Amino acid sequence: MASSSSRFQQYLSPEKEDELRKIANTIVSKRRGILAADESVATIGKRFDTIGLTNTEENRRKYRELLFSTDNSIADSISGVILFDETFRQSASDGTPFVKVLQNKGIIPGIKVDKGVVPLAGTLNECTTQGLDGLSERCAEYKKGGCGFAKWRCVLKISDHTPSYQAMIENANVLARYASICQQNGLVPIVEPEVLPDGTHDLQTAQRVTEEVLAFQYKALADHHVFLEGTLLKPNMVTAGQSCTKKYTSQDIARATVEALNRTVPPAVAGITFLSGGQSEEDATLNLNAINQYPGRKPWPLTFSYGRALQASVIKAWGGKDANIKAAQEELLKRARANGAAAVGEYQGGAAGAAGGQSLFVANHSY
Ligand code: 13P
Repeated sequence: MASSSSRFQQYLSPEKEDELRKIANTIVSKRRGILAADESVATIGKRFDTIGLTNTEENRRKYRELLFSTDNSIADSISGVILFDETFRQSASDGTPFVKVLQNKGIIPGIKVDKGVVPLAGTLNECTTQGLDGLSERCAEYKKGGCGFAKWRCVLKISDHTPSYQAMIENANVLARYASICQQNGLVPIVEPEVLPDGTHDLQTAQRVTEEVLAFQYKALADHHVFLEGTLLKPNMVTAGQSCTKKYTSQDIARATVEALNRTVPPAVAGITFLSGGQSEEDATLNLNAINQYPGRKPWPLTFSYGRALQASVIKAWGGKDANIKAAQEELLKRARANGAAAVGEYQGGAAGAAGGQSLFVANHSY
């Protein structure tokens, strides 16, 4: 019989576990996924550069208002939106806080809580992600302010000598620490150990590295007693390096991705929400569709949490002009619906918009 001095503690109350499980399950409910709109000030500036728009706080606010005021039917395909801290504090032009605008549509607001990628000393140009200081207090504020989930991104690089043991263990551990702090504060952590697409490596190499990185990740989450049913994984799809000369089909990518996930991710995890990682909008949708059509075992919902692959056509159609807001929102709706269909393997193709086929690859991408 378990005594009160048992070394096995209940780290979260049953009520908190229920709350986390419910949020996570809602986010990955049928035909829905996440819009990642948490670009830092510098990163959104790079997107604005492509349409010649200056990177002011008001322009960032106007752009986010465009996204969040898209027709209510967007909520049929988008269950959650990841915000940047500045956006969390901003409001629509009628004074309604963005958090409220999203909640009114039935969309769960989420928040990026990491403070960015920094060099990991003693490695060959590898990285870790900072932001643990004061994280619990920040999570408490975001929860109180209406957020239901959080995101923290780490990056791993493929080269002849990387990712190193040091980078894999450090990034897995910092993500686990973040995840447990989020859960204590009632936020569902999205765990994002992104294996970057930069490089000439083939599909098999990408698969082996992704498997290794995810194995480190789930060992660390277990070590930190993270409640897996109240987490989401945001991995890269397994694709060959951006500069690989060999070409692979969506079916090849689907097989490599599902195999890697099956070998490393416990079925208890609430869902998998892929990043788009520089794929074109159309490729990101076609590959998600192929993953969901893949006949192998798939114990979790497999959906999207796209930044670039949901916004490239939107930004292009908008061009920073009020007159184009409606057209830009149509682009968002089109891509969101296409990805919603892909999340259940029912995408028929042909939703390509203003930037549909264009590669969205950014070398050594930061968020
Ligand atoms: P992309 O879909 O643009 O890769 O970004 C998603 C994201 O949130 C990365 O952290």
